[in-house]
Amino acid sequence: MVYFCPSCANLLITDTQEVNLRLVCSTCPYAFKITERIQHKIKMERKKPDDVMGESAWENVDQTTGQARFVLSEDWEKYAVPMLSVDDRAFVWLRSDKHLGAATITNLPNPGEDRVCVRYEHNGSTYHVNPTRIIPVRKLSSTAGETLIFLCDNTREYRRLARSQVNKEDDVVDIGSSYGVCTDILSQHCDRVIGVEISKPLIEHSRAAYPNIPFHHLDIVKNESQSIPLLKGKNKVFIDIGGDRDIQPVVQCIKFVLEKKIKPEMIVVKNRPLTRCAMEETKPLRVAGYDGLIPNAWWEKMSTEYGKEEEKSGDVVIEGWFKKAVEEGFKKHPLRYPQRMTEGGEENN
Ligand SMILES: C[S@@+](CC[C@H](N)C(=O)[O-])C[C@H]1O[C@@H](n2cnc3c(N)ncnc32)[C@H](O)[C@@H]1O
Repeated sequence: MVYFCPSCANLLITDTQEVNLRLVCSTCPYAFKITERIQHKIKMERKKPDDVMGESAWENVDQTTGQARFVLSEDWEKYAVPMLSVDDRAFVWLRSDKHLGAATITNLPNPGEDRVCVRYEHNGSTYHVNPTRIIPVRKLSSTAGETLIFLCDNTREYRRLARSQVNKEDDVVDIGSSYGVCTDILSQHCDRVIGVEISKPLIEHSRAAYPNIPFHHLDIVKNESQSIPLLKGKNKVFIDIGGDRDIQPVVQCIKFVLEKKIKPEMIVVKNRPLTRCAMEETKPLRVAGYDGLIPNAWWEKMSTEYGKEEEKSGDVVIEGWFKKAVEEGFKKHPLRYPQRMTEGGEENN
């Protein structure tokens, strides 16, 4: 291939007058006929920022939460993803909430029809299903560093997200693993999952019930030196630590994950008061076409109001109800025990 005229060294230009493309010299009669397609692909490497302070200087430095986007799980399904596309991955909610079928959308309904055709991953069979039974798998934005945070207000929805939004290659942490039930669900959908729990007896119970899953005994926010190495590299984080009433520990935990350079793609949070508060905030936005995103100002307000260190530790209350639960031989679910108890397990009204 010639770029310059061999006789006068001028840059050759494309001659568009001819049927066959050729390169011609603008000052002499030289012409170069183009007979074959020539193309070069040049991969442009993005220049890495210069590490002026040394890499270790940035470790554990608090980060801003500017790239976190909060989504109400309910709104996301109702408003943001009504449009399914062929080849999308989805989960079909089978009769029992416990069983979700991983599937791929193969056909959308024709005008006048209402069923979506899916192919199940486990056996390749195809079915026509009612779209209300389809849980879309959130397509994560490819923007590096963005974290999507799903808020939900009940355990059923939390576990449904654990079943539907986690893939084999994900590396997941379940914070507030309690008896390990949700950690076990997660382990059925991804290869790497750990549980983190503040209560020692619950950790012992989980280790005995699910010996193949690693469970760690620690307070995720207060034991920073242990929790940061554990959380590093996790791309999906599940948080359910506040029970049904407390908002503060949950806000602190989200803030902690966002600020400590963990950078997961997704955080799923179960907390009733936080979710209700976000629902109030987004009431005026909820019309068709709403993308389900909660305005950033809402999180700024929440983290200022509830993100400060707790004055007294919640351990006493947790050990209190747990002590009673142990004495009773775990007759009731932990959430059924009164939240306010003395250390000795007496109800404290
Ligand atoms: C509602 S339960 C979680 C239930 C669980 N998600 C499930 O689906 O089975 C909340 C758990 O969070 C734990 N927890 C509370 N604060 C914590 C903290 N700072 N770090 C780790 N675990 C915590 C509590 O001991 C309790 O067992």
